Amino acid sequence: MIKCETISQLREIVNEWKQQGKRIGLVPTMGYLHEGHLSLIDYIKSHCDCVIASVFVNPKQFGPGEDIDRYPQDFERDMQLLQERGVDVLFIPESNEIYPDDYYTYVQVDELGKGLCGRSRPTHFRGVTTIVSKLFLITKCDVAAFGQKDYQQAVIIQRMVKDLNFDIQIIVCPTVREEDGVAMSSRNSYLSAEERSSAVHLYQSLKRAENLFKSGELHAARLREEMKSSLLSTPEINVDYLEVVDAETLQSIDKVHRITLLAGAVWVGKTRLIDNILIDP
Ligand code: PAF
Repeated sequence: MIKCETISQLREIVNEWKQQGKRIGLVPTMGYLHEGHLSLIDYIKSHCDCVIASVFVNPKQFGPGEDIDRYPQDFERDMQLLQERGVDVLFIPESNEIYPDDYYTYVQVDELGKGLCGRSRPTHFRGVTTIVSKLFLITKCDVAAFGQKDYQQAVIIQRMVKDLNFDIQIIVCPTVREEDGVAMSSRNSYLSAEERSSAVHLYQSLKRAENLFKSGELHAARLREEMKSSLLSTPEINVDYLEVVDAETLQSIDKVHRITLLAGAVWVGKTRLIDNILIDP
């Protein structure tokens, strides 16, 4: 595995691959890798000739007072995992390589970033689409993979690719879960043992709503109530949102009549966790 810290170094490799007609796949990450990230690598590895993974804790997607200063990092471990999984190039730039002092340009997808996580993190998705656009342009990738756990992010990136005519295929891979159902996330490492046992309630509340839907309930209000009632009785958890939205537009719905997203974000202590499930009538 080649480790690149600069854009010019990476471009040299990528240009050579392009000349050889190779299909290039990208897995963008912020590091502190877990099986969720590695499942994206495995997908790209089996569908592309060359695999690039990026590790960059993108400052532009953190709002004031968010956890950028304590975001978990373990570059040595990440490098070992990526090497073991057969990544060809690790792109691991410093912040000023990506955002020099005179950096002014942002990419923003309107509408889709306003609800769900966008309500409490109003500048987050603009930061994500900006870095992802830059990574697409730097790596000249043909395919890029993202996890379903960040469903709103995936929808926004798909829309950006469509609206800006990026010639890139976006793959969304299923959420990888711990044995008890908790979605894998780098932020799970913040949780104390007690908080970790509370964290499972988010997934369980989504599953309860899914079961209610499977038993015939189509009213979004009832599904939302089902999620809420189980979480409100868990004292360690503060709900940010629990929503039932159209899976494509991310708009609230009254009744389930096509693919629908059950999505939630909760605070467990000082840690904000998100999760979602798709239901399909
Ligand atoms: O999902 C993430 O880890 C990040 O939002 C991403 C896509 C790597 C952009 O920084």
